[in-house]
Amino acid sequence: MAAVALCSSRSLVFLFSVFILFSGGETFIRQLSVELNPGSTSTPPGGDLLHVRAVGDNDTLHFLFCSQGAPTLLLVHTNSSSSTVKVDWSQFVAPNTSGSLKVEPESSVQYSSAVVFSKLLEYDDVNDTADPTSDLLPPYELQDFTWSRLNLSGPTALLCGSAPNATNGSLCLKLSVFDSEGRSQSWPRLLHTANSSQLGVWLDGLLPRATRSRFLLELQAVGRTDPPSRVEVHQSIDDEYTPSIFQVSQWVSSENGSSDVLGFVQWKPVAYRRSDPVLEDATPCRHSDPRPQSGKAAPSGLIRAFYSDPDVFGLNVSFGLGGEPFYNSTRFLSWTMLVGVGSPPVDSFSPLVVTIMAVGLGTPVVLLLLGGVWVCVKKRAAASTTAYEPIN
Ligand SMILES: *[C@@H]1O[C@H](CO)[C@@H](O)[C@H](O)[C@H]1NC(C)=O
Ligand SMILES: *[C@@H]1O[C@H](CO)[C@@H](O)[C@H](O)[C@H]1NC(C)=O
Ligand SMILES: *[C@@H]1O[C@H](CO)[C@@H](O)[C@H](O)[C@H]1NC(C)=O
Ligand SMILES: *[C@@H]1O[C@H](CO)[C@@H](O)[C@H](O)[C@H]1NC(C)=O
Ligand SMILES: *[C@@H]1O[C@H](CO)[C@@H](O)[C@H](O)[C@H]1NC(C)=O
Ligand SMILES: *[C@@H]1O[C@H](CO)[C@@H](O)[C@H](O)[C@H]1NC(C)=O
Ligand SMILES: *[C@@H]1O[C@H](CO)[C@@H](O)[C@H](O)[C@H]1NC(C)=O
Ligand SMILES: *[C@@H]1O[C@H](CO)[C@@H](O)[C@H](O)[C@H]1NC(C)=O
Ligand SMILES: *[C@@H]1O[C@H](CO)[C@@H](O)[C@H](O)[C@H]1NC(C)=O
Ligand SMILES: *[C@@H]1O[C@H](CO)[C@@H](O)[C@H](O)[C@H]1NC(C)=O
Ligand SMILES: *[C@@H]1O[C@H](CO)[C@@H](O)[C@H](O)[C@H]1NC(C)=O
Repeated sequence: MAAVALCSSRSLVFLFSVFILFSGGETFIRQLSVELNPGSTSTPPGGDLLHVRAVGDNDTLHFLFCSQGAPTLLLVHTNSSSSTVKVDWSQFVAPNTSGSLKVEPESSVQYSSAVVFSKLLEYDDVNDTADPTSDLLPPYELQDFTWSRLNLSGPTALLCGSAPNATNGSLCLKLSVFDSEGRSQSWPRLLHTANSSQLGVWLDGLLPRATRSRFLLELQAVGRTDPPSRVEVHQSIDDEYTPSIFQVSQWVSSENGSSDVLGFVQWKPVAYRRSDPVLEDATPCRHSDPRPQSGKAAPSGLIRAFYSDPDVFGLNVSFGLGGEPFYNSTRFLSWTMLVGVGSPPVDSFSPLVVTIMAVGLGTPVVLLLLGGVWVCVKKRAAASTTAYEPIN
């Protein structure tokens, strides 16, 4: 009977999984087009500007990524499928002008926000407590890094930079823009949609300045109004895509504290100590509370060109906990986040977990049902035998 029960619950599971797979059927697709240094006839001094246009049915998302100054990703959402980006290049490369990059028509802009990679911080964790306020070494200002030209392949761009005095090692950023929903192959395998882009950051081979060095990354969120200002941490019981991690953090922006999320930065609190990691190479990360930066964004060509008087929030992401191996052990750290508009993607349970839950919950139910049927049949049989008993 147990076998029968298992069989029927398996087919239930199968139907359930099929339902789950096909219920998300109508995928939302954007048409992507990639343009390097839009409107410029020569390669601009000081770094490239990438523009990825993602056109939906009645709207457009403009992804702009630039290495003039501190590396910056800017997202502009318009309610027109024909909005364009205009750059005044002679002003864009000047260090003291604003308003040189416009998204037109300006009335179509619904929301914009930017993420700036402002600083890389290193500290000497002498007591192995991973307290990022102890023994800080002089910070690396990312605007002072020497950045490579953008290496493009489709809607993916790779940017690597090296510290002014460092002979070895680099910090790299990889931006991927997507035309539809999906999940990348490498950990943490974040779920993305056509309304988000993924930014991978990794530190490779940079020489630590102390034997027990650990690192932090300072990020800024910038917007005209309502930049991402609070971090929510959500729990999940499912770690199939990101083994051993049961949390997702999202730095969200909402209008006057309403519950509607306008834009987000999302990540899982994990970094990896190797480029091709196994489970032991995962290291937890933590974030500080976002703090208003009193209008002071790190020097970034893109911020200066698009915003005149922006709101800025900053937070630190620190890698590693006390007792975890130090950076020196592999001299590699990688971390991944998603930046997008609207609500952040929510992981549904993976088919494996659905199957396990269905077998776990389904089997007892089926057993109970069959048990009930068996009891009924027995009772009826008993009733019918008593019916034929001779009456004394
Ligand atoms: C796009 O706009 C057109 C006309 O304004 C409208 O008919 C159509 O329903 C809209 N499509 C979507 C997906 O909102
Ligand atoms: C920007 O700087 C240049 C020289 O570096 C100067 O000639 C120009 O007047 C400045 N413009 C503004 C708006 O401050
Ligand atoms: C786009 O939004 C603006 C306001 O932000 C509105 O005035 C305009 O009518 C909208 N256009 C379309 C096509 O919905
Ligand atoms: C490390 O531990 C020693 C002894 O407990 C203490 O005196 C020192 O302040 C600690 N250093 C840091 C940076 O916490
Ligand atoms: C560009 O990236 C590809 C892989 O993404 C790599 O094979 C290639 O060497 C890179 N080119 C340069 C000039 O860095
Ligand atoms: C780089 O080296 C120069 C001179 O060697 C020094 O003045 C400067 O402080 C160094 N910068 C950093 C970030 O270490
Ligand atoms: C830079 O890396 C090379 C090869 O990995 C190594 O031989 C060299 O010693 C490193 N340079 C420094 C200053 O450590
Ligand atoms: C993406 O944005 C479009 C247009 O605003 C919206 O219709 C769609 O539902 C969004 N998709 C997701 C997965 O948020
Ligand atoms: C948001 O709140 C501020 C004051 O806190 C107010 O001045 C502003 O009008 C509000 N905006 C909206 C759209 O409600
Ligand atoms: C990040 O950490 C450093 C060092 O503790 C600190 O100076 C800086 O203010 C922090 N940044 C933010 C935005 O909290
Ligand atoms: C860590 O750094 C120390 C001194 O800089 C060096 O002797 C040691 O070999 C390093 N460890 C690893 C695993 O590279």
